[in-house]
Amino acid sequence: MLYSKIKFRNLELKNRWVMSPMCMYSAKNGIPNDFHFVHYGSRAQGGTGLIIVEATGVVPEGRISNQCTGIWNEEQAEAFSKIVKFVHENSESKIGIQLGHAGRKGSTLNGRQIPVEEGWETVAPSPIPYMEGERIPHVLTAEEIKNLVQSFKTAAKRSIDAGFDLVEIHAAHGYLIHQFLSPLSNIRTDEYGGSFENRIRFLLEIVDAVNEILDENHPLFVRISATEYAENGWDLEQSTELARILKTKKVDLVDVSSGGNIHGAKITLFDGYQVPLASEIKKQTGIPTGAVGLIKTAKHAEEILQNGDADLIFVAREILRNPYLAAINSFAENEECFFPHQYERGKP
Ligand SMILES: Cc1cc2nc3c(=O)[nH]c(=O)nc-3n(C[C@H](O)[C@H](O)[C@H](O)COP(=O)(O)O)c2cc1C
Repeated sequence: MLYSKIKFRNLELKNRWVMSPMCMYSAKNGIPNDFHFVHYGSRAQGGTGLIIVEATGVVPEGRISNQCTGIWNEEQAEAFSKIVKFVHENSESKIGIQLGHAGRKGSTLNGRQIPVEEGWETVAPSPIPYMEGERIPHVLTAEEIKNLVQSFKTAAKRSIDAGFDLVEIHAAHGYLIHQFLSPLSNIRTDEYGGSFENRIRFLLEIVDAVNEILDENHPLFVRISATEYAENGWDLEQSTELARILKTKKVDLVDVSSGGNIHGAKITLFDGYQVPLASEIKKQTGIPTGAVGLIKTAKHAEEILQNGDADLIFVAREILRNPYLAAINSFAENEECFFPHQYERGKP
């Protein structure tokens, strides 16, 4: 099953291994460079079914740090298109991009907020900083929110024009969209805050706007934090209801992560700790899900798929250790998987 194909819209993935989006904090002016070329290119050579490029800012202030990638201009899109072209011409991997906005968690270096002169004024649904001691973020006006929806749409257009196969919207980990979802970070009283319907509005508007760009060949994924591990916060019940709605809005898969919005929230970590969240959302709504979080072996990945807990296996740290994760496990399991023809003699 791990090495079986799966289709989202008309896009076929050769196997269920996904390189989970990971910020590399190595770009200048948002432009990916030689490091990114090798970094993503080598995971394609390793047989990964789908690569999702790191959280990429839709506007300059949407980045987490000055070193994050961006796709708000043509120079950035052009640099990405070289990576995409390599992946398409030298592997069987598909490659998507995660589009995001950091909101109140932006303007940082090594996870710490930097002065506004070195970074920028952060924005958020409400005047609540992520951590004590951080600046109070600028509260987005309704007009600014509408403009950001358009920024996501423009970024999606640039991404597709650059050749990316799919778009993932980053609505997890306490970044801007998650800040809107959570009643703990969103205390607005206008149409973007208060009720569940109002808190999910920003995300739904982005989904609709991005879907205007995508066609039958370009699927849309959404990454959420299914719970923020906080009383009266965003939780699995709301995530399930959201997933039900996303399914009606032509979202092809919910990539189920957790946490990130509440500083100091207690998370119990164990192998596959977020799998039950992906499983519950899939079972309750029927939407395909991605499982992520401390999945390190093909055996575990296979189990998750066989149990019907998820449709794709997102791997982050393990694929940093081993870019050939998909190919190497295919040898052991006698499964078909892409391996560069140049490396034929390296097969066991
Ligand atoms: C270096 C690093 C950077 C990350 N950057 C992102 C990111 O850009 N977007 C995102 O959604 N998650 C990001 N994550 C989270 C991973 O995608 C993944 O959800 C998490 O690491 C758990 O999976 P793992 O146990 O396989 O590492 C990052 C994780 C790491 C280790």
